[in-house]
Amino acid sequence: MSDLNIIVESFEKKFSNIKSKEELQNLKSEFFGKNGLISSEFKKMNTLNPEDRKTFAKSLNDIKNQITHQIEKRFKDFENQTINEKLKSEKVDVTLPTKITHNGKIHPVSQVIDEISSIFSEIGFSVAEGPDVESEYNNFTALNTPENHPARDMHDTFYLDKNKKTLLRTHTSPVQIRTMSNGKPPFKIIVPGRTYRCDSDQTHAPMFHQLEGLHIDKNITMGHLKGCLNYFIREFFEVKKIKMRFRPSHFPFTEPSAEVDIGYKVENDKIVIGEGDKWLEILGCGMVHPNVLKNTNVDPSKFQGFAFGMGIDRLAMLKYGINDLRAFFETDYRWLNHFGFDPLDIPTNYRGLSR
Ligand code: DAH
Repeated sequence: MSDLNIIVESFEKKFSNIKSKEELQNLKSEFFGKNGLISSEFKKMNTLNPEDRKTFAKSLNDIKNQITHQIEKRFKDFENQTINEKLKSEKVDVTLPTKITHNGKIHPVSQVIDEISSIFSEIGFSVAEGPDVESEYNNFTALNTPENHPARDMHDTFYLDKNKKTLLRTHTSPVQIRTMSNGKPPFKIIVPGRTYRCDSDQTHAPMFHQLEGLHIDKNITMGHLKGCLNYFIREFFEVKKIKMRFRPSHFPFTEPSAEVDIGYKVENDKIVIGEGDKWLEILGCGMVHPNVLKNTNVDPSKFQGFAFGMGIDRLAMLKYGINDLRAFFETDYRWLNHFGFDPLDIPTNYRGLSR
């Protein structure tokens, strides 16, 4: 047998016993290293005459290529095997129950939005939403607040273009317009969401949250509005009885309009809602102005209803004894840890809102 055949045979034998990448690497060195079997054969070429050298070189190259090919292929196989094993060991069984961790907290504003949604859903309201970037038309004109109306100045609007056609919505009321223009009555919605005004102090932030309510149907009266708000406030503050008064007010999009105050007292430096002889203003409301209905193609001779709007952040401050609104938006982890809620305690009416 020629030297080359012996080399091939020895390679095949060893190759078939390879069990790991390391062994393969050693085999590769044994054949192709500086003094490896193949490398040594190449060195022999100088001793041959030109004719023999040519045939020998060809055979040696063939063998070299064949062995290299086998080794490289095997390296690839080992690599794939490692990847497959890794994938197998890292496979996640999504059907297993989750590991319960308690690192995150629900922000009081999110908690209050969940509570409010739960309360209103019990009496048939659904949740609607609208964009933060709104048209001047939806935010003002369609809500019966034409250009030069003094109510526009009171809103300290952030306009987004020179022509004052686009803005950051100053209230959630434009979602009344969006909902009514895009559907058919009856409407019974609440709208929680972010709102913006150029204002900042202990009780005002340039971005804050409002809750809008709208109920349009045949024969809806101010009596329904009173009943609805009375129910909401009792449920929200988790009290049996509430002192409440409607004060005449003005909003361009309602007629008549009212502001609602609730009774409270201070006991041991804490606010007690629902009793006492002090009054706290908490929302604006009224019967939807016929012009708003006309602007959204709802026939005011057939349909009527009420709307209301309130500040969610203020409700959260009152209910959970938080006295600086700015802390809501500072993302201070210690604050959130103290005032935040457990993510697994989702507020529902039957289980309780804020245990
Ligand atoms: N949009 C009013 C505001 O931001 C609040 C409001 C008052 C909303 C009366 C209403 C309403 O829907 O009927 O000041």
